[in-house]
Amino acid sequence: MQVFVGTFVHSTVDTPMVILKDSVLGVHNSKIKFLEKVEKLDQLREKYGFENSCITHMTQSQFMMPGMVDTHIHAPQFPHNGLKLDQKLSEWLMTYTLPLEQEYSNVKMARDVFTKVVNRLLRNGTTTASYYGSIHLGAVKVLADVAHAKGQRALVGKDNRLLSQEVGSEPGVQESLRDTEAFICYVNGIKSPLVQPILTPSWGLACSIDQLKGLGELAKKYNCPMQSHLHEIKGEATLRADNCHPNSHPNILEGFAISGLLGKKTIMAHCIWVDDDDLEQLRMNGVGVAHCPNSNLSLRSGFCDVRRYLEKGMKVGLGTDCSAGYSPSLLNAIRCAVHVSNTLSILRPNYQQLSVQECFRLATLGGAQVVSMEDRIGNFEVGKEFDSLLVDTEVPNTPLDVFDEDTAEEKIQRFLFNGDDRNIVRVFVAGRCVFNQDL
Ligand code: GUN
Ligand code: FE
Repeated sequence: MQVFVGTFVHSTVDTPMVILKDSVLGVHNSKIKFLEKVEKLDQLREKYGFENSCITHMTQSQFMMPGMVDTHIHAPQFPHNGLKLDQKLSEWLMTYTLPLEQEYSNVKMARDVFTKVVNRLLRNGTTTASYYGSIHLGAVKVLADVAHAKGQRALVGKDNRLLSQEVGSEPGVQESLRDTEAFICYVNGIKSPLVQPILTPSWGLACSIDQLKGLGELAKKYNCPMQSHLHEIKGEATLRADNCHPNSHPNILEGFAISGLLGKKTIMAHCIWVDDDDLEQLRMNGVGVAHCPNSNLSLRSGFCDVRRYLEKGMKVGLGTDCSAGYSPSLLNAIRCAVHVSNTLSILRPNYQQLSVQECFRLATLGGAQVVSMEDRIGNFEVGKEFDSLLVDTEVPNTPLDVFDEDTAEEKIQRFLFNGDDRNIVRVFVAGRCVFNQDL
């Protein structure tokens, strides 16, 4: 048993941020066994029979929060993080990004880059990631292996894309579906409780309709989730012709729908330029939205109105969308989400902007809902798995200033706005410590 005593902060469906001071949380077999007031410590010790050596006492400068969920990230694009952001989506893809992704036929390069990706994400507190891989079976197997070896919770997808050879295309529908099924079987064969496959058509018009239908069959056969990009730019269907497949469905969302790819386990990234009909179709099907504010500002795609989705009761999480977003940190995504929402409130009278507490919920419980894991992770409810960050606001060389009179709430808020990975001193996934700054 592991027992932690101190301050805990998490979200519930009803309240964006709940702060539990002077509390005690117990973990056994990867799961949260209890979360009580510290006065109950002796009683709990008797009931569960743990030794004092199992107890970690947090200091006044420390607190625990749930691990964060990156609902949308492209692992192969990591070498471009912070680079090549002078174009808008279509040119950015064709000039920089797809040529880079082509290089992942090289499995050694895949291992080197993906090791960096998973290490970087874990130390930044991303305990769960929904990854886009590349179109290469060998490379995405490596991504699943690396996440598994490092103990990260991950959905891993082999990209599906039929374009022209120069910009990176699968050879044909048969090969695409064959490799995708082989990948699903490979990941299922790892028998990891943490790593699972996800179908990943790179966007609606990059795939032919028979390809999408084939992926729909695989979704049904293997009960597999699906992720894609949707309505990222205005008038998406008019993207340059060489970005689209001639046999794609003219109505993007309809193409997914008739292929059986819209459902509760569907994650759609961006969803900026969604009309009311499409919104209704997304809502009715229980689709989750991956909001990627850094990417949307970096590529100048637009401002996603998250409030519109939340008011409809839809699931919304945050994505870094590296490397269209330049930062792999979900703290950065929280800040960008606040600023995108502030911008909307400047542009629109009476717009209720998102609070930092609401954006904290998007990064944790909202993300868990989007990846359909809210029964397992996302907050500190008893029975859930222990995916957690130990945060210290007063580490050496701290990036933030804390003042004597600061309340717990103020320390948490300062961390969300001004903290970084130096403040994340331990990271746990399913009860296992996967990153420890002292080691
Ligand atoms: N649409 C299709 N592929 C991509 C991608 O790699 N990044 C982003 N942001 N949008 C896409
Ligand atoms: Fe993306």
